Amino acid sequence: MANVLLGVTGCIAAYKAALILRELQEMGHDVQVVMTRHAAEFVGPITFEALSGRKVWMEMFGHATEGGIEHIEVARRSDLFLVAPATANVLAKFAAGVADDFLSTVQLSATCPIIVAPAMNVEMWRHPATQENLEKLKQRGVHIVYPESGYLACGVTGEGRLAEVNAIVEAVRSVLDRSTELAGRRFVVTAGPTCEEIDPVRFLTNRSSGKMGYALARRAVSRGASVILISGPTRLEPPAGVEFVPVRTAREMQQQVYRHFPDADVLIMAAAVGDYAVDANPQKIKRQETLTLSLKMTEDILAGLPPRDRQIVVGFAVESENMAENAVAKLRHKHLDLMVANDVAAFASDFNRVLLLSRDGNRTELDLMLKTEVAERILDEVAALVQARVGAPR
Ligand code: CTP
Repeated sequence: MANVLLGVTGCIAAYKAALILRELQEMGHDVQVVMTRHAAEFVGPITFEALSGRKVWMEMFGHATEGGIEHIEVARRSDLFLVAPATANVLAKFAAGVADDFLSTVQLSATCPIIVAPAMNVEMWRHPATQENLEKLKQRGVHIVYPESGYLACGVTGEGRLAEVNAIVEAVRSVLDRSTELAGRRFVVTAGPTCEEIDPVRFLTNRSSGKMGYALARRAVSRGASVILISGPTRLEPPAGVEFVPVRTAREMQQQVYRHFPDADVLIMAAAVGDYAVDANPQKIKRQETLTLSLKMTEDILAGLPPRDRQIVVGFAVESENMAENAVAKLRHKHLDLMVANDVAAFASDFNRVLLLSRDGNRTELDLMLKTEVAERILDEVAALVQARVGAPR
């Protein structure tokens, strides 16, 4: 089964990590424990060594591995990194990218899915710093198993108690299942705005930030898909593991989509493709009282795709009024399998509230949530469509 890296940090619930370890072994996983020094004040490493049958990692220096850099090797070998319990301090370090001990250094070098199960006193849990750190981690795609309300070690009752072992183990199961769900599937995702030159210094563009498309590309990679991300200019870093194709104009985006579409199982057009292009002036246009630009409609990339029976095509509709009706009309006109309708307010925001419309008439209205979470929900729908249309994972 999977190689699970279990991180244990210093809190009274550290002993529960031993129960989690046992459950993960029951599921057939190989568990490697890494703990902080503070955690070792609560439960000795020898407990975890005896249960896991493996040496526990704690110190940065002093252990020679077989020719590799320890924390990199440990991160590379793991299919999933679960930190349970996760203290407020370790969440803050993860959020800030601090790497001052073995566990936090492994986190920074891990490319596998990460789950954290926080546990702390209620005031620490409610502190804005802790909540902001959690938001940051969520945006990066870290999965959170939220603590429960109950009697806490500090003697009060409130939120902060480590989630039940079952809930944590269930989260591991579902994240691991997802991590291979799209294995062998080829995705093309478009993102960001396009830009049309007016003259050598001016251009027409729109407010798209690219966040939705980049989140989709990142999450598709973490579900095992191979992903080509065709992106207009954005401020974002291409997610690790994607094949990145930068473009500028609507025409360039069209060329790249048409080039890669024939080999794709899924196309997700999250890009805000400009609807108009200008005949670019080779010289800088001089300042003048009034300037008339003549705009020409660009070609509709989705509407111009060849007929298909196997491939899944997902579009986005940005509307400022009559969202559902307009989105349904676009779904039909562009022969889409799934349409994600959103309000113009979502542009540039980290949050989005969308309506998912499928070709067979299903409507799912999602609450306002982070774009990373919206991406997961869209991919749940896409994975179901792929499964129904193309069959089981290759
Ligand atoms: N799209 C496209 N080619 C274009 C314009 C848009 O493929 N030239 C795609 C977008 O990527 C999106 C979908 O079509 O997935 C809908 O885009 P949207 O801007 O909402 O709709 P338009 O078709 O441009 O219609 P309108 O601007 O009139 O609402």
